[in-house]
Amino acid sequence: MGERMGNLRRTNMCGSLRMEDVGKDVILMGWVQRERNLGGLLFIDLRDTTGMVQIVFDDEAPKEMMSKAETVRAEYVIAIRGKVRERQSKNPNMPTGDIEVLAEEIRILDEAETPPIYIKDEDNVSETMRLKYRYLDLRKPSMQENLKLRANIAKVVRDFFHENSFVEIETPMLTKPTPEGARDYLVPSRVNPGQFYALPQSPQLMKQLLMVSGMDRYYQIVKCFRDEDLRANRQPEFTQVDVEMSFVDVEDVLGINEKLVQRLFKEIKGIEIELPLKRMTYDEAMERYGVDKPDLRFGLELKNASELLKGCGFKVFNETIQNGGVVKGINVKAGAEKFTRKDISKLEDYAKTYGAKGLAWVKMTEDGISSPIAKFFSDEEMKEIIEFFQGEAGDLLLFVADGINVANDSLGNLRNELAKRLDLISEEDYKILWITDFPLFEYDEEENRYVAKHHPFTHPVEEDVHLLESEPHRVRAKAYDLVINGDEMGGGSIRINNSELQSRMFSALGFTKEEAESKFGFLLNAFRYGTPPHGGIAFGLDRLVMLFSGSANIRDVIAFPKTQSATCLMTDAPTEASQKQLEEVHIRVELKDEK
Ligand code: AMO
Ligand code: AMP
Repeated sequence: MGERMGNLRRTNMCGSLRMEDVGKDVILMGWVQRERNLGGLLFIDLRDTTGMVQIVFDDEAPKEMMSKAETVRAEYVIAIRGKVRERQSKNPNMPTGDIEVLAEEIRILDEAETPPIYIKDEDNVSETMRLKYRYLDLRKPSMQENLKLRANIAKVVRDFFHENSFVEIETPMLTKPTPEGARDYLVPSRVNPGQFYALPQSPQLMKQLLMVSGMDRYYQIVKCFRDEDLRANRQPEFTQVDVEMSFVDVEDVLGINEKLVQRLFKEIKGIEIELPLKRMTYDEAMERYGVDKPDLRFGLELKNASELLKGCGFKVFNETIQNGGVVKGINVKAGAEKFTRKDISKLEDYAKTYGAKGLAWVKMTEDGISSPIAKFFSDEEMKEIIEFFQGEAGDLLLFVADGINVANDSLGNLRNELAKRLDLISEEDYKILWITDFPLFEYDEEENRYVAKHHPFTHPVEEDVHLLESEPHRVRAKAYDLVINGDEMGGGSIRINNSELQSRMFSALGFTKEEAESKFGFLLNAFRYGTPPHGGIAFGLDRLVMLFSGSANIRDVIAFPKTQSATCLMTDAPTEASQKQLEEVHIRVELKDEK
């Protein structure tokens, strides 16, 4: 049973006490990290959100107080009245390690059962337990730091946009499907039987409407919902820093938003970033790195050797090229010694998860080359290949022959994997760039049609507009992504503000007039009444916090996240609804047998 705080008012925070506080009378409140009873001498490490301090009960403590202190266990909530004094044996590992508080009074404000997880950063508790007991997990200093960092980042964002005349405007959560292309979360309407709201995948359409409304500059820190396959940097509900501006072109949007990036690095990390940020076209990124979010902290660039290998003696390479595919390769500098045959076969398995059919290799040693494909090439051909990849003794060359997409995807991802295995990545290095000129469309093999790479309102690059009908795959978009250390931190575009161009875009996407009307009619209607040229961007706030906190897992920067299967282990959501609730929203549940 807890005692009342009574006349006790907290005077100081545990983690803030230092030598200059010696002699002060303080009242502290917090959780017991641990208790050590040395017989006659009793120590309690007391923790609050600012850190930890040592409390001591010495042999002069009244017996009654001592026996109360002895009942205290880990995670009890207590209040301590006492005096700060210099510590006999200092602890350099603790910020408060020079001092301790000699207790004069202890009150137990609440007892605690033995916690199911230890409240300690170094403890490797399973993530399942951490998520189930999230409120305990959040007591850990690292988690508290992450949440504070998140709030600091949000504050920098708000200050920045406010100073630059952007207006923060909320947009609805109960809305119509938005055009980002993931699956929607649906919410049934009770008062409109059989009808559903969609939770927004982003405020995309609303922010465009705000531009039609003449708001000129909008931003919002906003929850977005996407029912998609989850990964280490994806959550079904996540947060965007969403931005839209009127009377702008690409330069304006990038110009102001890279100032935000600069401000964040300065205020959060104390790092000066030089502007303008580096830019790279999508085509160049794909050619040199195989992915549209290249990590520039290391080399290992891809080279396309198709021209050289056309007509070569290795059937796999030659036929791939004849059939319109490519052979791309990476020179893993000084990699020959570092990867055994077995290691390379693991790399091959890795490449195969991205669709590659194999991973050919050439090891260059002081005594010549070793390679399973050497026998297919003349000495002269092999020499040319090595020259092309600037190979030297000690290098390892890796090749994938396939269609351009598979070759890029497998080698691009293998490149990142190689950097990890070779330990080429320095954590405090930040490589920031814009990727520009994305293709407007991509071909959807399943649906057998072109789909918008970004979304259907993205403006094509002016000089490519004439290709919309004839060669849609060649049309570039006024779309851009912000990439930091190989992660997509944000993306956006200039939007179409001309109804004729918008109709051509819809027909290129295979939408009939009626389909376009039923999906986006309200936007198209609005566009009839004077639409300013506009464009914007959205940053992934969770990903920014991951970057600045050095977290590899998006769940570590969200207070109450979901698992990979979109469940919340703490609340047990989602759950079945009662029959009554289902009837109210006019829904009958019929589960198909999952085989
Ligand atoms: P986009 O779909 O690229 O653009 O999203 C913008 C940014 O949001 C982050 N993000 C995510 N973060 C965590 N979990 C997810 N499931 C997730 N999905 C996306 C990424 C991404 O770069 N309306 C457009 C923006 C615009 O055109 O202005 C949009 O939503 O960091
Ligand atoms: P094989 O002659 O099929 O045994 O293949 C010889 C080598 O070529 C092996 O190391 C395979 O991994 C590699 N290989 C096979 N197909 C491809 C491909 N499409 N791209 C790159 N390497 C390949």
